[in-house]
Amino acid sequence: MKYPQTVDQLLRPKAHAKPLVLDLFAGCGGLALGFEAQGFETLGFEMDVDCCASYRHNLHGDCVNVKLDTNYQFPKAQVVIGGPPCQPFSVGGYQNGIRDARDGFPAFVSAVEQAQPDVWLFENVRGLMYRNKRLSGRDHS
Ligand SMILES: C[S@@+](CC[C@H](N)C(=O)[O-])C[C@H]1O[C@@H](n2cnc3c(N)ncnc32)[C@H](O)[C@@H]1O
Repeated sequence: MKYPQTVDQLLRPKAHAKPLVLDLFAGCGGLALGFEAQGFETLGFEMDVDCCASYRHNLHGDCVNVKLDTNYQFPKAQVVIGGPPCQPFSVGGYQNGIRDARDGFPAFVSAVEQAQPDVWLFENVRGLMYRNKRLSGRDHS
């Protein structure tokens, strides 16, 4: 089976099961909304209390108000999604990447290791893929 068909099959909710989606750096729940609309149960993790309140307002799923790090204990889940903070990677900033204390990728990787999901997905800015234009001397805009 080709990769896109495999992912489609894994992501299709079963008739009697509600697969659990862990939504890291959940914000107001925009990334999770489509999963919930397709029959998944979502559980958000977000450090900002107002974002969490919006998440609970926008979705049926709960939102855990927590500042994530690699020590956080995640439950098992079928799917892990997240949009870690983009500031460490954005070309609008200094692109300190893994040297930036806001880098959320270690916590995301820890969640994937613990939850052992069938599928994981993260979104971020394209600056994740190349060096800062100010540092490299090239204009990537
Ligand atoms: C790019 S936004 C996520 C947007 C979200 N996916 C959505 O669709 O609405 C990143 C979010 O991560 C949260 N955040 C940043 N660092 C965090 C941390 N260590 N633990 C938990 N949440 C964090 C921020 O408060 C922010 O709401």
